[in-house]
Amino acid sequence: MTTVVREPADFRQACDDARTSSHRVGLVPTMGALHRGHFSLIDEARKHADFIAATIFVNPLQFAPDEDLDRYPRTFESDVSGCRERGVDLVFAPEPESMYPAQFQTQVSVGELTKPLEGEFRPAHFDGVTTVVAKLFNLTGPCAAMFGRKDYQQWKILSRLALDLDMPIEVVGCPIVREPDGLALSSRNRYLSASERERALGIVSGLRRACDAWTEGERSSDMLRSLAGEQVRSEFDRVDYVAAVDPDTLLTAVAQPTRLLIAVAAHLGTTRLIDNVVLGEDPRP
Ligand code: PAF
Repeated sequence: MTTVVREPADFRQACDDARTSSHRVGLVPTMGALHRGHFSLIDEARKHADFIAATIFVNPLQFAPDEDLDRYPRTFESDVSGCRERGVDLVFAPEPESMYPAQFQTQVSVGELTKPLEGEFRPAHFDGVTTVVAKLFNLTGPCAAMFGRKDYQQWKILSRLALDLDMPIEVVGCPIVREPDGLALSSRNRYLSASERERALGIVSGLRRACDAWTEGERSSDMLRSLAGEQVRSEFDRVDYVAAVDPDTLLTAVAQPTRLLIAVAAHLGTTRLIDNVVLGEDPRP
């Protein structure tokens, strides 16, 4: 049975009760518009826990005024059915007012990891993410929390947050789920027109090109970045970044790296897509 709760206090109580009954809680934080990528997080949570709590909350704090908060897809009924079908025990779907009541004035901020990549183009984004996720971690209590590695930087930042603040949370980064042609699943893919959907493959083509060169022995970060970038630039309207960086610090990689993160953010019309691969670690996308 899936219980849906709206109030933070009810969510906290349900998680406490689950632990009192000797369950291990698995947390799947989402902004709804659930797709196979989210469902894979639920499956992954089952490997770490036996009481699964999903949260559905489009967090206004992590959207800049010119971003897509208003048009972000909201598909609550089908999200809850999807959770029910997959045996999620608890869904927490708060209203913004109960997460951020009047007089709310606290912000949780992680340092250096939030500065490059997404941080350069979405300056307030990660403070919004870390603030809401800190609240979710505090409400849930000890648990294993699942995050998709499509948002690679977010996963790294949230791991840091839990470590730095001694939160009793095991932060788990889960593999990217892709369409058969390679496009990474994203709630924002539904914004793409048919022709944009075709052109969106430019990102995965770029990542594959870098992957193939890596397999053939290329280790120059600049070369790998430019191989990926050519494909992206030829299909996308605007490219925020194509980066080749150290997967742990997100800064310039050493010469001859043994692992290298290729991360991309680019726009097709009004839709912004991100994707990545860790060379030396992930399978070819
Ligand atoms: O990745 C997301 O969907 C969101 O950033 C998260 C982690 C649920 C916080 O709002």
